[in-house]
Amino acid sequence: MRRNTGRYERGNVGSEEVSAFIPEPLPPHDPPLVIDGGLADLLRRAETALGRLELASAMVPSVNWFLYSFVRKEAVISSQIEGTQATLMDLLAFEASGQVKSAGTADVREVCNYLEAMAYVRKQLGRPKGLPLSVRLLNETHRRLMQGVRGAEKQPGEIRRSQNWIGGTRPGNAAFVPPPPRAVGELLGRLEKFIHGESKLPALVRAGLVHVQFETIHPYLDGNGRIGRLLIALLLEHWNLLSQPLLYLSLFFKRHRAEYYRRLDSVRADGDFEGWLEFFLEGVAVIADEAVAATRDLFALVSADRARVLAAPTTSVTAARLFELLPEHPIVSIARAVELLATTKPTAAKAISTLVDVGVLVKIGGRRRDRTFGYAAYLDRLRAGTELERGR
Ligand SMILES: Nc1ncnc2c1ncn2[C@@H]1O[C@H](COP(=O)(O)OP(=O)(O)O)[C@@H](O)[C@H]1O
Ligand SMILES: [Mg+2]
Repeated sequence: MRRNTGRYERGNVGSEEVSAFIPEPLPPHDPPLVIDGGLADLLRRAETALGRLELASAMVPSVNWFLYSFVRKEAVISSQIEGTQATLMDLLAFEASGQVKSAGTADVREVCNYLEAMAYVRKQLGRPKGLPLSVRLLNETHRRLMQGVRGAEKQPGEIRRSQNWIGGTRPGNAAFVPPPPRAVGELLGRLEKFIHGESKLPALVRAGLVHVQFETIHPYLDGNGRIGRLLIALLLEHWNLLSQPLLYLSLFFKRHRAEYYRRLDSVRADGDFEGWLEFFLEGVAVIADEAVAATRDLFALVSADRARVLAAPTTSVTAARLFELLPEHPIVSIARAVELLATTKPTAAKAISTLVDVGVLVKIGGRRRDRTFGYAAYLDRLRAGTELERGR
């Protein structure tokens, strides 16, 4: 045990006795957290990598290209971590079909909810009169995340009023029993104070601490992982580490899921904040580096393909315009192209077939009438890490 991180309180769930954990408020104390040695190196590495990602996003002509796809990548992977069975391709194909949301599968709708929740919360934070980063705002975000789908009975938008547990089939054999419901309000209040209070700790470290504390509190009946990971992205923006949510950190957690859970667990069990922070900072560095490489790679691909499109004798102005829309809409249907280009169906169909001839677009699905086409080379690069794991 490195430090005391809280206390256990005995209580009952049904007929079972459980020990619920009530964490000490942040920051870690007794002893306080010291950022030195290897941890300081990792922090520098993570900060530098984030700085490079920020720079890369400032250098490209349209950050929206990457924002669109990177945010979707994060949404899909964060949802996958706890079992949503939808891939990035499922999401993009669904969005391209232009169907109303209720038509998608429950898994795709869950990812769409995540995107809406993300857009909602960023809009609030970006407006002078919007809600500040607070428990109330997280509740409203949670309401959007859990609407409809499987979340309906999970009290969307509300702090839980009953005891929950993590791992195991019942509270009695759980890996971890979060705080009793009556303690949650105050714990969240303290967390909100930590976010807005003074601290000598570096912002990136604080973001990592907030995540683990949020997961330990586990304030909702479901959706704690997704809201807690979204909170990391919001804090990076709030503390000016990244001006857009371009870091798909969930990919690191997905890759090392067992370690992710183990590290969260040893903060509570052993007070090992340092171990969690090493893992977290390494994740930031690795994913930021990967995102920079992906940005470069995608940009080079688009530039090379643009040259090919423009060189083709059959290319019309409409086809060239459609090509420019592809990074933000890597899957299109004819109907969607009609909409995006504000043109007629024959003109849109012609533009698509030009891009197919050049080898940029590839037919990917749908029946004749609602056939979809994908920017295959672009999608291949984007897709890395977003496929479902086998055997789950
Ligand atoms: N031992 C643990 N201690 C604290 N948090 C944990 C532990 N194990 C897993 N978690 C967190 O709990 C999340 C799952 O909680 P859940 O409410 O089902 O979220 P979601 O439905 O968004 O996946 C995991 O993604 C992880 O962040
Ligand atoms: Mg869940």
